[in-house]
Amino acid sequence: MPTVRDVREQAGEEPITMLTAYDATTAALAETAGVDVLLVGDSVGNTVLGHETTLPVTVEEMESHTAAVVRGTEEALVVADMPFLSVGVDRSESIEHCGRMLKEAGANAVKIESGPHTVELTERLSDLGIPVMAHLGLTPQHVNRLGYTRQGTTQEAAEEIHELASAHEDAGAFSLVLEHVPANLARAVTEELSIPTIGIGAGPDCDGQVLVVDDAVGLSESPPPFAEAFGDVRGAYRDALAGYVDAVEDGSFPAEEHSHVEGDLDLDPV
Ligand code: KIV
Repeated sequence: MPTVRDVREQAGEEPITMLTAYDATTAALAETAGVDVLLVGDSVGNTVLGHETTLPVTVEEMESHTAAVVRGTEEALVVADMPFLSVGVDRSESIEHCGRMLKEAGANAVKIESGPHTVELTERLSDLGIPVMAHLGLTPQHVNRLGYTRQGTTQEAAEEIHELASAHEDAGAFSLVLEHVPANLARAVTEELSIPTIGIGAGPDCDGQVLVVDDAVGLSESPPPFAEAFGDVRGAYRDALAGYVDAVEDGSFPAEEHSHVEGDLDLDPV
């Protein structure tokens, strides 16, 4: 069974690969490709559920997608993202919501979009046996306050991220996502922390990298500037669907090999 200790030990040895997944099929494919950590991101709101932001995603939806990813996985560590307002409002509710991801859905850890308000909670969850991946920099649940812009670009903002990173390590977080921050800030944080950092739009010096799977395979319509498409799944998908429509319309599907005839049937009108 994968543990967060394996991920911690990998830091500095070889890069940690993390990818989002929202369903069992993608989880199995990602695992076969060698992905170390599967993040059931609340980006499921944008990628799968058709929302404009991640804010409407619910605990129930995250639990269901996490359970699907767990069913598709044998080796990868599965991390469930905690959706907007599921943590940080009420302490015992926060613990219950995080606990559900491990107890009911089978995740190995949770990710929490972090800030000053999550330090104490991270400590409590870690003490209770719920491993926490912290997340600093661009935190999409704060879109109404921060937008989707680069973070940590001023001295003051960079220092705040640096301090919060150390505070979350001290509180027991087992790793830290750094999103859309300057590469030199990510490098400094990575050098200072002993827990692994996982970057997205944070340069090459983190201990690992994460991408939204739709961006990585070329399925997204408008990927963020820091993402790279390693395939053209959108094009392949569109061609396959158009091929199906054409074949039905021109009568070439279904062909003989897709059909069968039962000679013994009495098909006189009833
Ligand atoms: O929800 C998500 O996909 C994320 C990653 C971008 C880190 O939080």
